[in-house]
Formats: sequence, C-alpha cells, structure tokens
Amino acid sequence: MFNLVLFGPPGSGKGTQSMHIANTYHLQHVSTGDLLRSEVEGQTPLGVEAKKYMDQGLLVPDEVVIGMISSKIDESPEARGFIFDGFPRTKAQAEALDKLLEFKNTKIDLVLALDVPEAELITRLIGRGVNSGRSDDNQEVIVKRIKEYHSKTEPVANHYDAQDKLERVKGDHTIDETFKLLARHIDRYLLPV
Ligand code: AP5
Ligand code: MG
Repeated sequence: MFNLVLFGPPGSGKGTQSMHIANTYHLQHVSTGDLLRSEVEGQTPLGVEAKKYMDQGLLVPDEVVIGMISSKIDESPEARGFIFDGFPRTKAQAEALDKLLEFKNTKIDLVLALDVPEAELITRLIGRGVNSGRSDDNQEVIVKRIKEYHSKTEPVANHYDAQDKLERVKGDHTIDETFKLLARHIDRYLLPV
C-alpha cells in the first residue's frame, strides 16, 4: 500500500492534482473538503454543524474530520493506496492519522507540499468563485482561510519533515508541468497503472 498526503494552502492545486494523481496511479482520492461539502448539501446534522465553520473560513473541529476519514478508509479495503487532500490540517489530525494507519498496518509514505505565492492563490480562488458555487470563494473568506492555514496547518509540515517524508514542490507552473514535478517524486515509490 502507498499513502500520499497532498499538502498546501487553499488554492494551491490540491484538488486538481489529486484527481490526476488518483487516475494515473490508481489511488483512492480522499478530500475532506469534498466530503464536508457533500454533507452540507445533504443537510445532514454533521453538514449543518460544519457549514458554520466553512462559511467563515475556519477549520471544522478535529473530531468531526477524523471520524469521517476513518470511515472513508474502511470503505476501500482493496485500495492500492490513498491520496489525502486537505487532510491532515492540524497536528492533532496528523497524529490521529498516524495512529489510524498504524492500526491498519500501513503508514503515510510521502507528503508533497505545493508551494504557490499568496497573490496567485487569491487570484485562482477568486477566479474559481465565479462559477464554483462555493460559499467560501469570496475575497473576505479566502483571506481568512489563508490565515487559518498559516496558523494551524503550516506547522503540520514539521510533523512530516521530522519523519523525513516531506518534499516541497513549486506549484505555480501550469497544471501539467506541476503534475510532472509531483509525479517525479511518486515514481520513486510506485509506477503508474
Ligand atoms: P477545502 O475544500 O480543502 O479547501 P481549501 O484547502 O481551502 O483548498 P481549495 O479546495 O480551495 O484549493 P485546492 O488546493 O484544492 O486547489 P484547487 O485544485 O481547487 O476546505 C474547505 C473548508 O472545509 C475549510 O475551510 C474548512 O472549513 C473545511 N475543511 C476541509 N478539510 C478540513 C480538515 N481536514 N479539517 C478541518 N476543516 C476542514 O485549485 C484552485 C483553483 O485554481 C481552481 O480553479 C483550479 O482550476 C485552479 N488551478 C489549479 N492549479 C492551477 C495551476 N497550476 N495554474 C492555474 N490555475 C490552477
Ligand atoms: Mg480542494
């Protein structure tokens, strides 16, 4: 099994690149943002609670997302591996994921962190907001999401750096060029299918 974390600020291309990586290497894509948005759309109790945080650009409480990830992993026992997009986002989530995977006799193999200048992040997200229908793609909430990233999520990189699993990749090239840079790292672990 091969497990990858795609790490980076809002708008760095985690969702876009995860889709390509999942298709190319046959990995199961797990995006906590997508999972939460589908709970919001279904107006489930979890979704109603999560929406309060998401609309403000704040992280949803750890226990909510950790529980979601655990059941998502259990749904795909035959997976070649997982690509985690937008998770873990706090130190507590990273520690919970390590424990969860250890319990399943596996681990995170590689963390690829996308590096994109802040001005480019804002341009991309405002651009996406025109058609995305995402309630958090407006200037005010985008700025809050980036702030939340710096204070709570960025330190998670150290957690993986200390385990020698972190690789930084420049994410301000075209989508195809960025994919090639990411693939170069993944190819050291497994081949495309
Ligand atoms: P989430 O859905 O994870 O959003 P995010 O981290 O803010 O990131 P985005 O999805 O906006 O960006 P992305 O990096 O995926 O980039 P994308 O590929 O879309 O989280 C949303 C909310 O849910 C959070 O604020 C929080 O409330 C909650 N949440 C989620 N996970 C949580 C967790 N683990 N714990 C607690 N709360 C959690 O690209 C962005 C745009 O740029 C697109 O339009 C794309 O087409 C374009 N683009 C991509 N690559 C390029 C490129 N190379 N060149 C030009 N344009 C590009
Ligand atoms: Mg995303």
